[in-house]
Amino acid sequence: MLLKIDDLSVMIDDKQILNNYNLEIKPGEIHVIMGPNGSGKSTLSKTIMGDQHYKVTNGSILFDGQDIKDIKTDERARLGIFLAMQSPMEIEGVSNSDFLRTALSIKNEGKLNLYQFAKKTEAITNDLKMDKNMIHRSVNVGFSGGERKKNEILQMKLLEPKLIILDEIDSGLDIDSLRIVAENINDYRNDYPDTAVIIITHHQKILDYIKPLYVHIMTGGKIVKTGDYKLALELEKHGFDFTFNTTNDLVGEDAIKENENDE
Ligand SMILES: Nc1ncnc2c1ncn2[C@@H]1O[C@H](COP(=O)(O)OP(=O)(O)OP(=O)(O)O)[C@@H](O)[C@H]1O
Ligand SMILES: [Mg+2]
Repeated sequence: MLLKIDDLSVMIDDKQILNNYNLEIKPGEIHVIMGPNGSGKSTLSKTIMGDQHYKVTNGSILFDGQDIKDIKTDERARLGIFLAMQSPMEIEGVSNSDFLRTALSIKNEGKLNLYQFAKKTEAITNDLKMDKNMIHRSVNVGFSGGERKKNEILQMKLLEPKLIILDEIDSGLDIDSLRIVAENINDYRNDYPDTAVIIITHHQKILDYIKPLYVHIMTGGKIVKTGDYKLALELEKHGFDFTFNTTNDLVGEDAIKENENDE
């Protein structure tokens, strides 16, 4: 198991956001998390990343078999957890290049080959069809919504994580950019097939490119329904209320087998 979340409860400002949350992800699996605004999706992602604002009041998070409760965010990144944030932060006065170099050097425990760094960064900006000048600008300052999202994927590809959490990576991306970002994620997974991905999204479109094993719907701080990608289609068509009231018993590999038989 790459990620094992057991009975996790999380509070912020005396408000309970996650309620006895359970999730297990094996290497190489892709899980989608959908759910209404305010249901706790970003809270989950920030808690996995170790954001100190979110207080864990119960339960545990194991990453690669290790309890990460007392581990700080930068150390979690070093272990191989990566979060592409829903609203990437601006860092005035720090160039994107310096930021990436620092992050990579922490990841590699101080070791960094500058020539390889420059070469790799340039290759990734090409893959993402990003303007090369973005490397020299302050992190996300004045970046458009879509440019910020691509910048998160640039970080991801440089840091080579084992668990990727994409919090609404698809929001703000135009049609071509969404395809490019999805292709980059798929290419990365082809290179590192053991990488697990959590895709948090409101829209089914990204799943046309990236095929998940499971789709979970959460509401009120817990997962209330799990299915395969058809659950996302159902949700798009009928909305949350209808979807909660229908049954979909097949999940994961069984559902994929059934789909193959259908085709
Ligand atoms: N730092 C914070 N301070 C106060 N309340 C917070 C904070 N972070 C989250 N919350 C509250 O926790 C609840 C869950 O928020 P969260 O951002 O996890 O929702 P979400 O499922 O990601 O929603 P969306 O789909 O709109 O992104 C919301 O009611 C939100 O206001
Ligand atoms: Mg959110």
